Amino acid sequence: MILALETSCDDTCAAVVAGGVVRSNVISSQGVHDRYGGVVPEIASRHHLELVNAVVDDALARAEVTLDDVQLVAATQGPGLVGALLVGLQTAKGLAGARGLPLAPVDHLHGHVAAAFLEPEPFAPPFLCLIASGGHTLLADVRDHRGFEVLGRTLDDAAGEAFDKGARLLGLPYPGGPALERLAAEGDPAAFDFPTAQGVPGLDFSFAGLKTSLLYRVRALGEVAATARRADLAASYQHAIVESLAVRVERGLEQTGHDRLALGGGVAANGPLRARMAGLAGALATPPPELCTDNAAMIAAAAPHVPALPWPDYAALDVYATGARGL
Ligand code: KG4
Ligand code: ZN
Repeated sequence: MILALETSCDDTCAAVVAGGVVRSNVISSQGVHDRYGGVVPEIASRHHLELVNAVVDDALARAEVTLDDVQLVAATQGPGLVGALLVGLQTAKGLAGARGLPLAPVDHLHGHVAAAFLEPEPFAPPFLCLIASGGHTLLADVRDHRGFEVLGRTLDDAAGEAFDKGARLLGLPYPGGPALERLAAEGDPAAFDFPTAQGVPGLDFSFAGLKTSLLYRVRALGEVAATARRADLAASYQHAIVESLAVRVERGLEQTGHDRLALGGGVAANGPLRARMAGLAGALATPPPELCTDNAAMIAAAAPHVPALPWPDYAALDVYATGARGL
């Protein structure tokens, strides 16, 4: 029975997982950052502090267990916002330490990979994994449950950031991904030709040029035409992001010889992306949206595969903003 906490960004998350089965998965989205157009780190930390105990209690109650049933406590150690991470890790230390339980410090990106391990459709390594979120875009070679090798990463914006910034240009609310997807459903993906960074060699991603291209297109159209063609702009822009991701995934599958692909990160919730990826690999794991966006169940999924520290060895454990992989 694993109790896991995840507080790397603006969602306060706790989950109970046993034997790969998600018993509860509580996600409290702070919803206070929208007015700033992005996450304000200091505000996020303060909200985590206010919410974390209630979220843990809720996760235990929904799983119909108590702390006495928990055998391992896990928490995200990084990468992420340091202040936000500290709230989750220190809370985990307190809960585990008071009961002499071991603590598993989990890498956030390992968590996104491990979301694929969970029931109801557990997907075991080896596989290629595309993680695309608001903070990260990377391609991982997953050979076993214990970790992964980064094959490519974004050189500038993350895919989710490209969605968010594009959405903002089109007057849509933050977070932009879901809003842009809804608007795009009414538009023509072939209406405009946006760049997909085909010129970037290898398995790295780049979205900065795409965002600029949308800005110039909106300006060239003028306000009236740009508003009238908002759905076409959204559909074409989304198409470019999806194609940009698909090109690298195709190259990655070819390079590694994998025929199995897993998606992770908030952008994996995108319908057209899932549809496009389904055509690329022999087997595709697309965890349900609540396991793709930031959540604690994925941290619990990775926890049994990282070395757990016995009490009191984790007392002085620190968080990290940037991982050993430079991500
Ligand atoms: O994994 P996540 O919840 O948090 C981070 O670690 O960043 O990902 C959030 C990102 C946001 O940029 C959001 O716009 C994007 O995922 N996103 C989507 C969709 N749902 C969320 N992007 C495209 N289509 C969606 N349906
Ligand atoms: Zn994430």
